[in-house]
Amino acid sequence: MTGVKRLCMKLKAAGWSKHILMLILTLGICLVLFNNYNEQNLIYSVSTNIITNVYSAELNKVNAIPRSSKKYVKVEFSGRLGNLMFEYASLYGIAKHHNITPIVDEGCKLRTFFKISAVSVKPLLNLKRYVEKKGNVYEENAFKLDTKYNWTLKGYFQSWKYFIDNSREIRKEFQFKENVQIEATKQFQEIIKSKNITNVNKHTFIAVHVRRGDFVNNQYFVNFGYSSANESYINNAMTKFRSQFSNAFFIFSSDDIAWCKNHFNESNIAFINKKNSPEVDMAIMSHCNHTIVTTGSYGWWTAWLIGGTTIYFKDFPRKGSKLDKIFDSTTYNLPSWIAM
Ligand SMILES: *[C@@H]1O[C@H](CO)[C@@H](O)[C@H](O)[C@H]1NC(C)=O
Ligand SMILES: *[C@@H]1O[C@H](CO)[C@@H](O)[C@H](O)[C@H]1NC(C)=O
Ligand SMILES: *[C@@H]1O[C@H](CO)[C@@H](O)[C@H](O)[C@H]1NC(C)=O
Ligand SMILES: *[C@@H]1O[C@H](CO)[C@@H](O)[C@H](O)[C@H]1NC(C)=O
Ligand SMILES: *[C@@H]1O[C@H](CO)[C@@H](O)[C@H](O)[C@H]1NC(C)=O
Repeated sequence: MTGVKRLCMKLKAAGWSKHILMLILTLGICLVLFNNYNEQNLIYSVSTNIITNVYSAELNKVNAIPRSSKKYVKVEFSGRLGNLMFEYASLYGIAKHHNITPIVDEGCKLRTFFKISAVSVKPLLNLKRYVEKKGNVYEENAFKLDTKYNWTLKGYFQSWKYFIDNSREIRKEFQFKENVQIEATKQFQEIIKSKNITNVNKHTFIAVHVRRGDFVNNQYFVNFGYSSANESYINNAMTKFRSQFSNAFFIFSSDDIAWCKNHFNESNIAFINKKNSPEVDMAIMSHCNHTIVTTGSYGWWTAWLIGGTTIYFKDFPRKGSKLDKIFDSTTYNLPSWIAM
């Protein structure tokens, strides 16, 4: 201590004020406390990882580098909105199952319109890759990752089984950001106003998502088994809702709204006419109470966000097709959804 005192006096003589010296002393104490804290962290992580990493923990101790007990899992995103949502939700569910941290790349598109909580961590060391075998079948192996490693997931993970235990959290993750919400609310109100609806509580709103596009026009997809619902299915589903709700009002969203307008023109129907981004259309539909899904993961997620009664198209994929053979409807469509 006398050494410190002498040093202080020297520095004081050199013009260092009392305040600066106090500051330096405080920082010094903080540093000591911080080191102790890391020591405790180290001990804690060693005791929870006795088998796996005693050696590296010991090594870290020697080097006084706090050992990170971080265990991460991320997903290699691919596809469009509906795919991305399955990938993120499944990533979340798989991470929670293993009690490890889900992370996303910095460029993760979902972040631009959802309030998702996963952060980015780079680089990942000790990395292993889990590659999904089939895109439309739940794989139990995804719940058996060896958490000695960090993981990256590759696949579509299109099953509610990956995240059903985390439904409430996923719902929170998929809250639209304010700018999307504001635009969607504005357009929803414009739509109902154009139909002279003044009291929303006097109506039951049903979102009808009609996926056509590549499921109609891409011959390769069609041959493989991707099917699109025709007007008979949509009419049957609408009739079912009308029988349940005399005040049913239908809001159509589609990648082929002209087709919808050609086939449906009753008075209690509205179309989303604007060329919105996919997320804005989804956010508009999420104002509805129930859903009619045709095909595709975009409609799937619209129904999931809405949460009410969902009717889905049972002839997807086309029966007997190649896709049909690698598709499991029971792990794809929620058990509570109604097939028609
Ligand atoms: C995961 O990667 C991080 C580096 O970002 C590393 O600190 C950590 O030890 C790795 N976790 C596992 C379980 O290997
Ligand atoms: C809404 O009301 C206005 C004014 O009464 C009327 O001109 C218009 O045709 C109505 N629109 C619909 C869709 O019923
Ligand atoms: C619609 O498709 C079903 C099979 O999914 C078929 O039985 C029906 O005839 C089709 N209806 C029209 C109008 O094309
Ligand atoms: C629906 O279409 C039919 C024939 O195309 C037409 O006669 C009818 O007025 C239309 N109904 C509405 C509500 O626009
Ligand atoms: C149905 O949706 C409308 C519009 O978003 C909402 O005001 C109403 O509360 C919903 N009804 C029920 C029963 O949830």
